[in-house]
Amino acid sequence: MSTPTPLEDRLSRVKAPGEPVVVFERVFLAFGDNVILKDVSFQLLSGSTKIFLGASGAGKSTILKLILGLLKPQAGKIWVNGARTDQLSERDLMKVRDDLGMVFQEGALFDSLTVRENVGYKLYEESDTPLEEVHARVREVLGWVELDEHIDKMPSQLSGGQRRRVAIARAMTFSPRIILYDEPTTGLDPITSITIDDEIIKLRDIEGVSSIVVTHQLRDAFWVAEKMAVRRQDGQVEIVPASPEKLAQTQFVMLRDGDVAFEGTASDLRASTDPYLQLFQS
Ligand SMILES: Nc1ncnc2c1ncn2[C@@H]1O[C@H](COP(=O)(O)OP(=O)(O)OP(=O)(O)O)[C@@H](O)[C@H]1O
Ligand SMILES: [Mg+2]
Repeated sequence: MSTPTPLEDRLSRVKAPGEPVVVFERVFLAFGDNVILKDVSFQLLSGSTKIFLGASGAGKSTILKLILGLLKPQAGKIWVNGARTDQLSERDLMKVRDDLGMVFQEGALFDSLTVRENVGYKLYEESDTPLEEVHARVREVLGWVELDEHIDKMPSQLSGGQRRRVAIARAMTFSPRIILYDEPTTGLDPITSITIDDEIIKLRDIEGVSSIVVTHQLRDAFWVAEKMAVRRQDGQVEIVPASPEKLAQTQFVMLRDGDVAFEGTASDLRASTDPYLQLFQS
């Protein structure tokens, strides 16, 4: 059997819109006596976005680590792209991770590597892809986040927002079908935050990436939920108010005391009369 070309490989991994790509079923996780997740269930459908809200320590980053298989639940089941990741060996987990991009809290760039190396290090180090192709891919993803002219800079020469965009470009390198964002706008001013939000929206609506966004910033959460990206006839991508179908594709999940305290759309959240949800939004 011949090995699939990169395009065939990618197409074989594309899930039909609306198919579940991440599923948690009654997940329980504790660190010693400290119960973090009591009974957490949710589904991320292909092409859609889940926005996780919750107080500091609620378990949001923990959920991302469970999806990556960096942590295992003590009870419950987790599926990523159809594979039961809570039961997989480290080797099989690597395959699942190939389809997951991660944008870590604070961006987590390597300070001693250039932007080019930060974005492409896995391709440069681990693959037998010809160097020219690696350069081209790195330029392509940096172009996508509009940072191509900064390719040879060090992270210290970039602003916080630019660094966050480099982290998004790095997550895109392997064209993952799912991207996990941990607090992608924390510490950024509102204007710069919107540029990050717009990248998340473009990846979702133009590239069909399914995403999980963990955030404390409700303004950003609502922006991601209530806007969408469309490609104009001249090829430019424009951010416009979301259509009703698009609005329905972004769900908010509020974690509280180890459980899912709320799940619903932006308008469900805005309309909620629950005092805790109202406090969170004030
Ligand atoms: N490896 C670990 N060992 C023990 N406790 C841990 C570990 N990782 C996380 N915790 C604890 O689990 C809880 C949830 O942590 P988590 O990082 O998921 O919170 P979070 O919701 O992402 O918070 P924040 O908004 O501050 O980032 C915290 O109480 C934390 O101290
Ligand atoms: Mg966290």
